[in-house]
Amino acid sequence: MTTLTMTTAQVPSRAPSWRQRCWRLCLMLVLLVASLGVTQLAVAQADPNREMTTAAPGITAEQWRQVRSGETGPNYRDSRHESNYNLINASGETWRILRNRWVSPFGLIAVLGMASVITLFYLVIGRKHLDEPRTGRKLFRWSLFMRSLHWTVATLFITLALTGLNLLYGKFVFRTLFGDAVWAWMISASKVLHNYLGPMFGILLIVLLVKLLKDNIPKKHDLQWFKQGGGLVGKGHPDAGFANGGEKAWYWLLATAGLIVVASGFVLDFPNYGQGRDTMQWANIIHAVGALGLTAVALGHIYIGTVGTEGSLEGMTTGYVDETWAKEHHNLWYEEVKDQAISEEELAARKAGGSSEPSTAKPS
Ligand code: HEM
Repeated sequence: MTTLTMTTAQVPSRAPSWRQRCWRLCLMLVLLVASLGVTQLAVAQADPNREMTTAAPGITAEQWRQVRSGETGPNYRDSRHESNYNLINASGETWRILRNRWVSPFGLIAVLGMASVITLFYLVIGRKHLDEPRTGRKLFRWSLFMRSLHWTVATLFITLALTGLNLLYGKFVFRTLFGDAVWAWMISASKVLHNYLGPMFGILLIVLLVKLLKDNIPKKHDLQWFKQGGGLVGKGHPDAGFANGGEKAWYWLLATAGLIVVASGFVLDFPNYGQGRDTMQWANIIHAVGALGLTAVALGHIYIGTVGTEGSLEGMTTGYVDETWAKEHHNLWYEEVKDQAISEEELAARKAGGSSEPSTAKPS
């Protein structure tokens, strides 16, 4: 039994050799330096001032002051284009804070808040039904052209809203849910859709606004419409022409905030017209604030146009509304067009004849 007969000197020693000791020491030093580096990085990320000193340790406090104040010096010039921006763009930090600390959280509060208010309203108050029974007689309200325009603008808006929300918040949800590969595909698809559909939406929105302008000029009775909360407060229905106070408010919001969102979107979509970084940053903030606000209000419009009000949606799908709906929601318009009401049989005959629209259609 050789093992039993081994002398102490023959047993392999467990103590590391001087060479092994050297290697271990080197390894420990490498690990120590690496871990210090990682810690340094983490601390620097948590503290922006620290980040600055570690990122560019050669720069003095005076130089940082110059950079942050926006003073331009030959060493800080942006080499791209003919821009004279500082290479280290101090206003970028202001943009980052505005976007991440204000626009993103408050935008989410606005959109989710509106969705919750609408849900609560539906659960507590419920759908606004017609007070009187339907007469079955129909009034022509929306031409095929206007319906197609409305639904195209609506589809584009919803697609832009969803892709825009994904650009702002998607990474917090989908990246965690589906992982990097799916997320990378989602975000690049969102960006392409958003960038290409934006201009289409802008052009069609302008056509829609022009077509609807004459029916949306504010009138004295619109004030009363708002005082009565569109019929929710007090008894009876407030006066309304072809468009009621609420619709006019939606129209003018689209004609102001909507067009600002479109214009700022164009600035962002075509950065090749000499606009500098500051312009792009402001365009981004204005675009996001306007678009998030519009998305929140659009939820209200969609609710009122679908489950919120009995009889509204059929106008925008078939072109015709029931006389009772017209009388209750747009009484002044009803007075103008009531002698043009047709029965369901007449409408069916009109459709069988190849067109469901009257030859003297009132709406644009
Ligand atoms: C699923 C989404 C939507 C639904 C169900 C919907 C529904 C409706 C309905 C039923 C009407 C007709 C109301 C009436 O006859 O008085 C209407 C009108 C209108 N909608 Fe929408 N809509 C949607 C999205 C949008 C979007 C996204 C926009 C704009 C970006 C929009 C802009 C308009 C405008 C400007 C009017 C005319 C109001 C006026 O006369 O001033 N809609 N919508």
